[in-house]
Amino acid sequence: MIDWIIADWPMVIQGVLGACLLLAVSIYLPIFWGAPALTTSRRVATRMLALAEVKPGQKVVDLGAGDGRIVILAARKFGAQAEGVEIDPGRWLLANIRIWQLRLRGKASVVLGDLRQYRVEKADVVILYLMQGTNQSLKTGLLAQLKPGSRVVSHLYSMSGWTPSILDDHHGIFVYEIGRTGEETVTKFR
Ligand SMILES: C[S@@+](CC[C@H](N)C(=O)[O-])C[C@H]1O[C@@H](n2cnc3c(N)ncnc32)[C@H](O)[C@@H]1O
Repeated sequence: MIDWIIADWPMVIQGVLGACLLLAVSIYLPIFWGAPALTTSRRVATRMLALAEVKPGQKVVDLGAGDGRIVILAARKFGAQAEGVEIDPGRWLLANIRIWQLRLRGKASVVLGDLRQYRVEKADVVILYLMQGTNQSLKTGLLAQLKPGSRVVSHLYSMSGWTPSILDDHHGIFVYEIGRTGEETVTKFR
């Protein structure tokens, strides 16, 4: 093995560089649809769901669900009815394989699609880990669709113009409550 690596080192380097390039493309290409494919750690995800006070049976929606980790956590640890939408077919497939392996079908699901077209009327909690501009573009739709008292929990990026009901600086979490964001009236008159 070592002999082969030494003899064929230009090919090995090409292979490693190719793999790194593919990985970078798969992570950063989704920026063009709304957010890079980064992941929230289990610790931060747990904190996000705890701050949103997710109760058993409540509906949690992750817009841009990635590998389904938050949807799965919400269903397993918080007893939520959890669903997500993901635009990347590879990550969507991974999420569904995990859901199937963990026997969570019926409690957790991730659909393949564009979060900008996804309806969230029935959600009690909407989870976001996107980008500032994407959050901004979702504000009007979230205010129009969500019922008062629903929570929007965003990792790292705020919903600028909205007043958070909870701000966890340490973990980079913003929690907003529909009806108390301070922007409802303005949006409805637009
Ligand atoms: C930063 S990751 C967050 C993943 C997961 N929510 C988490 O916190 O671990 C953002 C995800 O949104 C997905 N995404 C980006 N634009 C999207 C769009 N327009 N519709 C659906 N998913 C999108 C990306 O493919 C990526 O998996």
